[in-house]
Amino acid sequence: MPPVLGIGGVGGSNANAIVKPTLLGSVDIGGGTNQFDGRFANPPFLFGSGGVELVGLEMTRDLQRLKQQAIATPGTPVELVSKGVHFGSLVANAAGEVDTTNVTGVKPDLVVRPFGRKGQFATVRAFDVDAMGFHFGMQPSELVGDGVDADQDGVADEIKRGDLSSLHVFATTLDRPIQDRRGRAATQGYRRFHSLGCVECHRPTLETEARRLPLRLPEVETDPRANIYYGIDLAAPAPGFDRNRAGGVSVPLFSDLRRHDMGAGLGENFHAASAEENRLFITARLWGVADTAPYLHDGRATTLTDAILAHGGEAQVVRDRFAALSEAQQDEVLAFLRTLRTPSSPAKALLAYMAQHDEAGSHADGHGKTSGKSGKKSGKSGKSSGKSRKPRRRSKRVAHQKPGTWWPKLLERLARGR
Ligand code: HEC
Repeated sequence: MPPVLGIGGVGGSNANAIVKPTLLGSVDIGGGTNQFDGRFANPPFLFGSGGVELVGLEMTRDLQRLKQQAIATPGTPVELVSKGVHFGSLVANAAGEVDTTNVTGVKPDLVVRPFGRKGQFATVRAFDVDAMGFHFGMQPSELVGDGVDADQDGVADEIKRGDLSSLHVFATTLDRPIQDRRGRAATQGYRRFHSLGCVECHRPTLETEARRLPLRLPEVETDPRANIYYGIDLAAPAPGFDRNRAGGVSVPLFSDLRRHDMGAGLGENFHAASAEENRLFITARLWGVADTAPYLHDGRATTLTDAILAHGGEAQVVRDRFAALSEAQQDEVLAFLRTLRTPSSPAKALLAYMAQHDEAGSHADGHGKTSGKSGKKSGKSGKSSGKSRKPRRRSKRVAHQKPGTWWPKLLERLARGR
């Protein structure tokens, strides 16, 4: 597995969140996860989240309108379709009560929630409010109230509204993922991606009607137009989405933002959820997938092929079609998936830096290890003389460097991207 840094990109399995287990077995009897009844969540990246959020808000708006339409026409079933994605149907009775039995892919409240592996959060902000408490033990004022010290640790207003707003702006203005040019194999693979039926769930592009992502406070889940205080231009250089003819932007996310039953094999064992809920996952957005191993909600798949073969439930038929392809044909699909890149690649930058640094090994080193011997003599010109005298023995030198000498430069490079 390639080394992956969790900077803007996904984290490795070591960065997984262990969510609310009541059992965490220490005895490894097969599989290594025995007696675990929490959720095990691999962190996805945030690139392009502004576009994803707007697609979700517009879908929610459409579905809420269709619900009003159903209430206005009692007894007539209304198909729930937004942006070409089907969410089943609903029907209202004369009393205005809505029957949601046939609603699929979204909760009965008809709020599309793109964030969280299970599709739990409608916006980045909603995710962050939850994550602040869960990961950092910080209570946002907008959750517990202004001036309220709910956890009684002597501090009120641990995270203020402004803090969360700036986080929201940061995440939703991150660059969108990119696509490399497709060569012959990748073009063929993209065709197969269609003909196999992967696109049923992994919709290549969803279009928005608006160009601006509305930031709202407080957020009303069922009403994306309520309480707007700021708008983010998604076509601005960052996040850099392409404009479409409708006046909105194209979001090439490779997802339908629906939740799907992925079968028992992929399902979780979370004690606080029903068996059905445990099998539901939102369609993973495949943009950037070339750079984001490991895969699936818990990072169990180290390769793209493993990830595809682990599909079950609603995806079983399509998965079997992929499995039945010849190796060469499967490779074409993989070649296509490998064109889906993150806008910057921390892991690649790390490797490039290490290689380059290795080449020029003696530079940074000149100060470190050699200074004791030759540095003093050579005085101010220690750097160049150290460089010329010292024989090149690179691999060891990298290991010997003090982190202080190369780490800031690496971070600088990571911040610049590739
Ligand atoms: C019925 C809907 C559905 C179909 C059809 C489907 N997928 Fe998926 N796919 C999903 C869901 C849902 C996930 C996320 C599962 C999880 O989080 O564990 C996923 C995850 C993935 C991942 C892992 C992405 C990541 O970042 O973790 C890859 C790769 C993938 N699918 C490729 C494919 C390919 C290729 C096909 C066609 C052969 C396909 N899928 C067909 C729903 C589907």
